[in-house]
Amino acid sequence: MFEKIKEYIQEVQNFQSTDPAELENFRIRFNGKKGILTQLFDDFKQIPNEQKKAYGQEINALKQAFLQKFEELKSSTPTAKKSTEIDLTRPGFPFQLGTRHPISLVKNRIIEIFKSIGFAVADGPEIEDDWHNFSALNMPEYHPARDMQDTFFIEQNPDVLLRTHTSSVQIRYMEENEPPIRILSPGRVFRNEAISSRSHCIFHQIEGLYIDEKVSFADLKQTIQFFTTELFGKSKIRMRPSYFPFTEPSAEVDVYWGLNSETDYRITKGTGWLEIMGCGMVDPAVLKNVNIDPEKYSGYAFGMGIERIVMLLYQMGDIRMFFENDKRMLQQFSHV
Ligand code: PHE
Repeated sequence: MFEKIKEYIQEVQNFQSTDPAELENFRIRFNGKKGILTQLFDDFKQIPNEQKKAYGQEINALKQAFLQKFEELKSSTPTAKKSTEIDLTRPGFPFQLGTRHPISLVKNRIIEIFKSIGFAVADGPEIEDDWHNFSALNMPEYHPARDMQDTFFIEQNPDVLLRTHTSSVQIRYMEENEPPIRILSPGRVFRNEAISSRSHCIFHQIEGLYIDEKVSFADLKQTIQFFTTELFGKSKIRMRPSYFPFTEPSAEVDVYWGLNSETDYRITKGTGWLEIMGCGMVDPAVLKNVNIDPEKYSGYAFGMGIERIVMLLYQMGDIRMFFENDKRMLQQFSHV
């Protein structure tokens, strides 16, 4: 009996392996439920009393030798890779990526086009004062043109209002900068209008302004033609006489969209033409208001509504969709 235990101790001490499976077999052989140690402890009862003490010491020595060996080998054996840890064949989680709002997409495209011919982006506040939104733009108090744009005033103070157009940025920029000036100002504007599928009390505009020596109406026309060709792929435009207090002469620009499809007929009301912006030569009175010499400098300005253009480009029928944040609409632009 004692001989056998000595052999086991020898076996334990000689055991060497870095293979996890072999180590596990080693554990089961000695320390498993039906392993050698369990059996030896079971045999304890049959040992004659006078030998019990020595026998006990022997199996404890075996147990210690085993535990020591096992711990030593376990810490130097690489743990087996469990196949459940990383499953590279599992399908990925369906993370939903955000998309750009169609207004931003078109706005960025328009900025790109004008940047390519030297325009820089300028910003202005949405809460304006009377001077920048009206008076400096040649619309003094009681001027009937103020009624063209129904205004939201803040706290009944006629000098704190939500800008009705991005033309206010023209004034702010010209007050701070000397010509030559070539800027584009995109932004939100606000008008107290009834909300319908065609008009909203909040919408976006992009304003353009170019001031330098000898800027002419021909420059304006060329620039707009370049723009419509780049954005719509359509170079046929016409300019109809119009009126804005801050430009003289003023014009409304139409793009020839064509009459090739039923949609063309519908959106152009059978004419083939679509109105896209207002523009004109900056009125000398406006230049004087911002201390730019109208004898030396001239310039043009234009302003367009972004929603209208998005609706045209993507065949959208209702302006209210832009402000509802309906994911079903927004997701349609994930590929753009
Ligand atoms: N501010 C004008 C509007 O909102 C558009 C415009 C801008 C017209 C610049 C001419 C020049 O209707």
